[in-house]
Amino acid sequence: MVRPRRAVERLKPYRPPREGREGKLRLDFNENTVGCAPQVVQALRRKLNGDWLSRYPEYEEARKKLAQYFGVSPDELLLANGTDDAIKMVCDTFVRQGDYLVVPAPTFPVYEFFHSVAGGQTKRVRYDENFNLTADMLLGGVSKRTRWMAIANPNNPTGTIVSQPDLRRILKEAPDVLVLVDEAYVDFSGQTVLPWIRKYRNLVVTRTFSKAFGLAGLRLGCILTNVDIADPMRRAQNPFAVNSLALAGALEAIKHEKFVARYAREVCANRDRLCRYFKSAGIPCVPSYSNFVLARVGARASEIALKLRDQDILVRDWSYDPRLKGYLRFTVGSTAQTRRLIQGLSQFRHLMESRNGGSPRARTVKENSQRQEP
Ligand SMILES: Cc1ncc(COP(=O)(O)O)c(C=O)c1O
Repeated sequence: MVRPRRAVERLKPYRPPREGREGKLRLDFNENTVGCAPQVVQALRRKLNGDWLSRYPEYEEARKKLAQYFGVSPDELLLANGTDDAIKMVCDTFVRQGDYLVVPAPTFPVYEFFHSVAGGQTKRVRYDENFNLTADMLLGGVSKRTRWMAIANPNNPTGTIVSQPDLRRILKEAPDVLVLVDEAYVDFSGQTVLPWIRKYRNLVVTRTFSKAFGLAGLRLGCILTNVDIADPMRRAQNPFAVNSLALAGALEAIKHEKFVARYAREVCANRDRLCRYFKSAGIPCVPSYSNFVLARVGARASEIALKLRDQDILVRDWSYDPRLKGYLRFTVGSTAQTRRLIQGLSQFRHLMESRNGGSPRARTVKENSQRQEP
């Protein structure tokens, strides 16, 4: 028998996400819930003519245009097959057997996944009970063996951010640690550290077309970093990881920034609406800078998620995570979709553990998280 590497043998079996989501209200993956700009679909249709599909993709022109869009030079940008691939590229280029990754807990699991595949170990830094996470806490997780740190900003599933002064401190005080700031949800938070890539030599920023742009199915992400980090990553990269449709879609999408900005504004207004609903129902929720809200509905969280599913409303059950017992995560979409979610939730209010009357925890989750304002 041909045995895989030890690091691969140690991996837990992959649990694929649920399929069969078509036609349902998809509030479970933090995607754009209304679709991309219609011009993107038209541009893709036009492209499908001729011999276009039989040719390998060409990247240079696209890289220039995307670099211009992000305000960096083409040398500072790498194309990736989604952020997931960008994370893998970091691991392929930098992670050695036994290296450590520092991540908040809970966070997007793909950092730890690819790091483990590369044979690395992970130091998880827990949020405090009010979902605060500071530079001191993250720097406290760094040791001599730390190779990189991944910070989703805003973080998934909490929706919280690490403040810019805290990020600055981390970049300065851990100069030998590669710090990946994953800005998948930047359109909803409005906060970026992208202009810092020349100043901090250890900073890597990632962006994706999967969220506000509505192109998750095409798979395109970008890595933005200084040339000293970009060059080795380019050398180690899969030469044709990004397909032609993804490039064509993204190049059209960036021409319709207003469409994306309008969608993000609508989502942010609905996020506030959903939080107001939770507050009125006495359900603690974490103030979010993203297009989703994490709420503590109580011990019957999984049952509530299944009942919503019966109504074709898909939400993400995080209650399996020991730190998030009783929590569901709700992606926020259009106004009509948010109304439908609130109507659905209202039917199961009797299943939720309401804190009406004001438990100290229900209040402090909100008050303390608000202090994270940068
Ligand atoms: C923080 C974060 N980064 C990245 C991604 C995935 O991005 P992509 O579709 O570009 O791989 C997600 C998806 O949920 C996410 O939550």
